[in-house]
Amino acid sequence: MRRRGMSGDLKWNKIMGACLGTAFAILVVQQVSGMVYHTKQPEKMGYFVDAPDESAAGAAEEVLPIDWGTVLPTADLAAGEAAFARCQACHTVNSGGADGIGPNLFAVVGGPAMHRAGFAYSDAMSKHKAEAPTWNYDELDHFINAPGRYVPGTKMSFAGIRDEKTRINLIAWLRTQGSGGYAIPAPDPARQPGAAAPAEGEAPAAEGDAATEAGSAPADAPAADAPATQATNPAPQA
Ligand code: HEC
Repeated sequence: MRRRGMSGDLKWNKIMGACLGTAFAILVVQQVSGMVYHTKQPEKMGYFVDAPDESAAGAAEEVLPIDWGTVLPTADLAAGEAAFARCQACHTVNSGGADGIGPNLFAVVGGPAMHRAGFAYSDAMSKHKAEAPTWNYDELDHFINAPGRYVPGTKMSFAGIRDEKTRINLIAWLRTQGSGGYAIPAPDPARQPGAAAPAEGEAPAAEGDAATEAGSAPADAPAADAPATQATNPAPQA
């Protein structure tokens, strides 16, 4: 009995050993694959840390650009003025103010790019001006968001302001500094939530009637029910 019991124990020891061995092997495999996975992850993270504004925000901007006609009238001017503190190291904004490291910014909103005749702008800015001659709201927004990315090679060594709301407030306040005559556009349904999809639907608007009303009131329901109809309205405006 005892011997049998012993040999039985030995058998179980072997079995247990085999199991432990297998478990160990599994752990090793998991560990190794875990290491592989982990070595890959930083690469990905780095990519995301570096690129979110290009891919994520950039794409978002393409899908739904800022609707200036809606956001400017309600912008927080005091917050915008406060945000300008970040620009003051290089820019004055008062009428007749001196150029510093950067050009005076009085009346820059809606004004021509390189609006200060006496300032030594970069070649990069000259090139940019050829493509975008006016500092309209979109242009200013793109530039302030990421100067070096939007105008590669610009002398404006400033990281940019990623927060959209802050940029809106800042641009709204800048407009009060000599650019009051630069009109705020009418709210644009093509830039409002619910109009995100139409960018792809290029079907011409058969019934452009009451496009604004139709777009605003039932915006939520029809977006899902009849995307085709929705798509027809804003497309031609873009
Ligand atoms: C470190 C200095 C510096 C800071 C900070 C800075 N800028 Fe600039 N800015 C410049 C320089 C230099 C230029 C000229 C760029 C060029 O020629 O490439 C410029 C150009 C500009 C222009 C184009 C002006 C024109 O006449 O075409 C605008 C608009 C502008 N800056 C806005 C801002 C705003 C808004 C801020 C704050 C959020 C800001 N800048 C912060 C240095 C700066």
